[in-house]
Amino acid sequence: MDNKVVLNYDGKSYEYPIVESTIGDKGINISKLRDETGLITLDLGYKNTGATISDITYLDGDKGELFYRGYPIEQIAEKSNFTEVMYLLLHGELPNKSQFEQFERNIKAHNFVAEEMKKIIDAFPRSAHPMGVLSALTSALTAFSPVTVDPKTKEDRAAEVMLAKFAHLCAWTYRKKQSLPLNHGDNSLNYVENFYRMTFRLPNEEFEIDPIIVDSLDKLLILHADHEQNCSTSTVRMVGSAHTGIFASMSAGVSALWGPLHGGANQAVIEMLEMINEDGGDVAKYVAKAKDKNDSFRLMGFGHRVYKNFDPRARIIKKAADGILNQLGIHDNTLDIAMQLEKVALEDDYFIEKKLYPNVDFYSGIIYRALGIPTEMFTVMFALGRLPGWISQWKEMRLKNDPIGRPRQVYQGAQKRDYVPMEDR
Ligand code: CMC
Repeated sequence: MDNKVVLNYDGKSYEYPIVESTIGDKGINISKLRDETGLITLDLGYKNTGATISDITYLDGDKGELFYRGYPIEQIAEKSNFTEVMYLLLHGELPNKSQFEQFERNIKAHNFVAEEMKKIIDAFPRSAHPMGVLSALTSALTAFSPVTVDPKTKEDRAAEVMLAKFAHLCAWTYRKKQSLPLNHGDNSLNYVENFYRMTFRLPNEEFEIDPIIVDSLDKLLILHADHEQNCSTSTVRMVGSAHTGIFASMSAGVSALWGPLHGGANQAVIEMLEMINEDGGDVAKYVAKAKDKNDSFRLMGFGHRVYKNFDPRARIIKKAADGILNQLGIHDNTLDIAMQLEKVALEDDYFIEKKLYPNVDFYSGIIYRALGIPTEMFTVMFALGRLPGWISQWKEMRLKNDPIGRPRQVYQGAQKRDYVPMEDR
């Protein structure tokens, strides 16, 4: 196999080396391209562009494989827990018992949020979307939790502070919506139990941890924990590449995730399923709308930039959704609609040809709803899950000293021209 690519342009020949990978896509290193040829590459949506070299997560879109630090997602979802996954993503290896306990202690040491932050959240109207509130609060942490310590450990310390505080902010966005008092953490609980209690505890009664709900949350968070260079992660890396601090970088990730083509799809899926249900459950009608070039409607929860086979996370979540609804004794009409939609779409030539399969967001909303989480909170749940991925990618970028992100452009605007005073226009 060649270890270089030859480009012939304008009567000259240029060579660009191949960058090897352990598995998956290799890259062409074109870092000298512009200097040597005067050309840049153009790849809208970065469909063929590697933004970095990473050791964290691998996914194969054709085979439907996803590995965290080499471990298949199926094994991780079945055998691990969210705290262990956070450690794995951040440190590269599974922790032994004492490393795990120390990591939990380190996070718990920051298990509170400055009281002044409550004033900020108070200022938002109750109608504010939780993702907007979360993004603002995450950025505001900068003012209350300065992370300036030993440079050798500062990324790890920043990560632990971020993990602890962010769970509060996610819980608080929910409580704001419900007009409930804002809680602080309970260090006798693990990360997911603590989040669950902070979110749902009522002021007038003892709170009991429901293991079915905690297990389901844990699994969902694991499945969302990282997904290599997706839109929000690339945003975090881009913002962080300017040496912007961790809180502002994560806040940017929250904003990117909010969009309905990305993490916001989980909210959009449930809204779509409800709409179809209320419209009499005519699934074929909506499949036809999604295929119609003149209709902007898309089947939310279908399709993925990388997965051109089944999304392995969707497969796990679909199974979990069945189990959880059974365990909780819930019958949800939207699940029936989802099943029909999946069946029709998977047998339809349009979806087969374009390789559009259900993605992670297709089933997650059904579980969140069964757990009593309101629709507008779904993407906040995704953000809580994705946080360790964002932090690990931010840390990797800082430790490898990646240069500031600064793409080029092909300009097609006006030529140089002289300013015309208003009276002469
Ligand atoms: N329904 C109907 N048609 C679709 C859909 C869909 N959900 N997704 C893609 N297509 C069509 C699209 O119209 C295009 O057709 P044509 O080639 O004739 O122009 C073709 O499939 C390729 O689509 P694309 O938009 O060029 O593909 P992309 O890689 O740029 O976009 C996507 C990927 C996920 C944004 C897109 O599939 C989509 O909008 N899906 C619905 C939103 C969604 O579920 N997002 C969650 C993604 S997974 C979780 C996450 O990223 O956070």
